[in-house]
Amino acid sequence: TLENLLERKGKTALLKEVRDVANMVNIIAVRQKIQLGLGHAVLCAREVCKNEPFAVMVGDDLMFGMHPGIKQLLDVARTENMAVVGVIEVPENKVDRYGIIQGEEYMPGVYRVRNLVEKPALGTAPSRLAIVGRYVLTPEIFDYLEKLEPGVGGELQLTDALQGLADRNRLLAVKLRGQRFDAGDWVEYLTANIYFALHDEDLHDDLVKRIQELVPCKGK
Ligand code: G1P
Repeated sequence: TLENLLERKGKTALLKEVRDVANMVNIIAVRQKIQLGLGHAVLCAREVCKNEPFAVMVGDDLMFGMHPGIKQLLDVARTENMAVVGVIEVPENKVDRYGIIQGEEYMPGVYRVRNLVEKPALGTAPSRLAIVGRYVLTPEIFDYLEKLEPGVGGELQLTDALQGLADRNRLLAVKLRGQRFDAGDWVEYLTANIYFALHDEDLHDDLVKRIQELVPCKGK
């Protein structure tokens, strides 16, 4: 195993890191056997979540910052006792890539969600507040997920199930602070790598030097 290997090689710091993570959580994997959409993927985890609130973190949405995105949602979910989705403002020409919410801001940065639209056509979105792949959900969502009909792209959309909660005034959205990268977009994916490396003190200086060599200054 990885632990044996690290032990044999005397990599004690890495070994401790691996053990600390293993002691913090139990990892249970559930495979989504057919790709029917994000809503279906969450539904596959029903048995594992049982009757408790749970978090969804979409792996190709990267968030960096002082306060982890999911923690910002958890704080609101706990005090308000409701399901919460993370949102950020996106430019007008990118609303068609995301789930878009519409609602009233009732505390700074916290919205009571009234409506959600998955990937609206440009020019038709109710706002520029796009769902980031971070959610804190309550088990009642499973009842809506079970009844889902295929939505945009023929997929079972989590966004459509969330409308069920919004209709009953049971859904909030929090505008997340921090840097967000959508790894589904090439430039964003590459920028995320550079951002991450620039924040690593072992990599920072060499990386800046190499980028400066590659990008000649304007006017030279
Ligand atoms: C999914 C959700 C969408 C959300 C997005 C965030 O879309 O359906 O509402 O805005 O994640 O990354 P996907 O990226 O799977 O197309």
